[in-house]
Amino acid sequence: MKILIYYLVSFAGQIDLKGNKFMWSEIRNLIEEVDYGTPPREGKLVNLTIDGVNVSVPEKSSIMFAAAAAGKPIPKLCATDTLEAFGSCRVCLVEIEGKYGYPASCTTPVAEGLVVRTTTEKLDQIRRGVLELYLSDFPPGEIADGWSEFHETLKKEGVSRHRYGQGKNHFDELLDTSNPYFLFDPSKCIVCSRCVRACSEIQGTFALSIAGRGFDSVVNAGQDENFLESECVSCGACVQACPSHALVEKSLFEGEYKHV
Ligand code: SF4
Ligand code: FES
Repeated sequence: MKILIYYLVSFAGQIDLKGNKFMWSEIRNLIEEVDYGTPPREGKLVNLTIDGVNVSVPEKSSIMFAAAAAGKPIPKLCATDTLEAFGSCRVCLVEIEGKYGYPASCTTPVAEGLVVRTTTEKLDQIRRGVLELYLSDFPPGEIADGWSEFHETLKKEGVSRHRYGQGKNHFDELLDTSNPYFLFDPSKCIVCSRCVRACSEIQGTFALSIAGRGFDSVVNAGQDENFLESECVSCGACVQACPSHALVEKSLFEGEYKHV
């Protein structure tokens, strides 16, 4: 049964009752190549300025969505436009004229007349600092040649190393290779919760959760089981959502997957 479901619901696609396959963005009338960071809303248009570009988006849209619509995409890790915003990674901070601090653009709604800046010296400095912290607990051998969304973000922000020594880390966590189609490498997990939210919001299976707190936070399948033993139906929504290749298709690796 699990295998059948895997083939029926292919990655990132939706299948209608007649068996036609649509991409999620086609259904929502969005541009396929653009990840708007948060789902689109409907309603009255709100006008604002992002990095000097005027843009109008429906009320209750996020600033992150407006920025992508204005052609000024904001770096992000825990956000993607197929899932509701969570606001955990703190990479997407912006400055808003007349407002104090650096709000997360994925969880901050637009408002009429806002003037938003997505790149300033201070924002770049904060963003790079956050990315360096993520890098400090990412397997060193996996930094240079990775091709995940996390790696793309690092490249775009010009971060290739961190300034911290080797401290407590998750490098030696055990792989979960129990599922025939994908594996889970906890050493690459940045605990963004995208897999957990994909499992509940897209698939409605609720097979995944984050167990533990702080440094001990870990993706948990079922009741502390491996993926195959859990309620996971192998739909692939979690793999599609994972930005760091902690959850990754086995077929992408020739021969045996190497754990760094
Ligand atoms: S497995 Fe991937 S999607 Fe899930 S929390 Fe870790 S990094 Fe995020
Ligand atoms: S993308 Fe906004 S906090 Fe992660």
